[in-house]
Amino acid sequence: MPVFITLEGTEGVGKSTALAYIQDYLNAHYVPFISTREPGGTPLAEKIRQLLLTKDDEKMAYHTELLLMFAARAQHLQQVIKPALAAKKWVLCDRFTDASYAYQGGGRGLPIHDIAQLESLVQGSLQPTLTLWLDAPVELGLQRAAARQELDRFEQEKVDFFQKVRSVYQQRAEAFPQRFRRIDASLPLEQVQAQLKSVLSYFVAVRTL
Ligand SMILES: Nc1ncnc2c1ncn2[C@@H]1O[C@H](COP(=O)(O)OP(=O)(O)O)[C@@H](O)[C@H]1O
Ligand SMILES: [Mg+2]
Repeated sequence: MPVFITLEGTEGVGKSTALAYIQDYLNAHYVPFISTREPGGTPLAEKIRQLLLTKDDEKMAYHTELLLMFAARAQHLQQVIKPALAAKKWVLCDRFTDASYAYQGGGRGLPIHDIAQLESLVQGSLQPTLTLWLDAPVELGLQRAAARQELDRFEQEKVDFFQKVRSVYQQRAEAFPQRFRRIDASLPLEQVQAQLKSVLSYFVAVRTL
């Protein structure tokens, strides 16, 4: 069975760094996979990503933001994620629908019910097999992210916004313990990788049974 892995967490906690490590791990174990990201992952969805991340004088309505996230996701699912899973490839995805709950639900304060309706419309019953939630204090992630270039539209938000995002991730990890694994991302890189390895080794072993 192919495994659909999503990486979640606030800015700068180390999702992209973890994704590179997981790619190496899966390659070393001869697991066929693709890696992708949201919002984006197809040419059209990447155009939507640009709309979402670029700062503009016109303030984007929260509903516009939410709908664009799910518009990109619909495209990504149809063009990339579903075909890969159908071809028995694992899918590694940097952010997915939990991020819509965390950012648009927690950060922006949109009703969870509305997000759930879009989730159902766009995904049906498809859910990640495994969600690696990289969790660290918000300030630590923001310090790490600050080392990067210019901040995008989300990265400009204040600490308080990301606290709300983090708390929704926490709630979802509690609500969906079967697929969520919390990774303590505040630790040094080797210790983050050790945690990732211990989760992945289980899934790789189960797959080859
Ligand atoms: N465990 C860690 N300890 C210290 N620095 C880290 C750790 N993980 C990632 N970093 C660094 O933090 C920055 C942000 O990491 P990144 O993977 O881009 O985060 P994200 O994709 O979650 O925004 C990068 O410069 C990365 O090298
Ligand atoms: Mg990243």
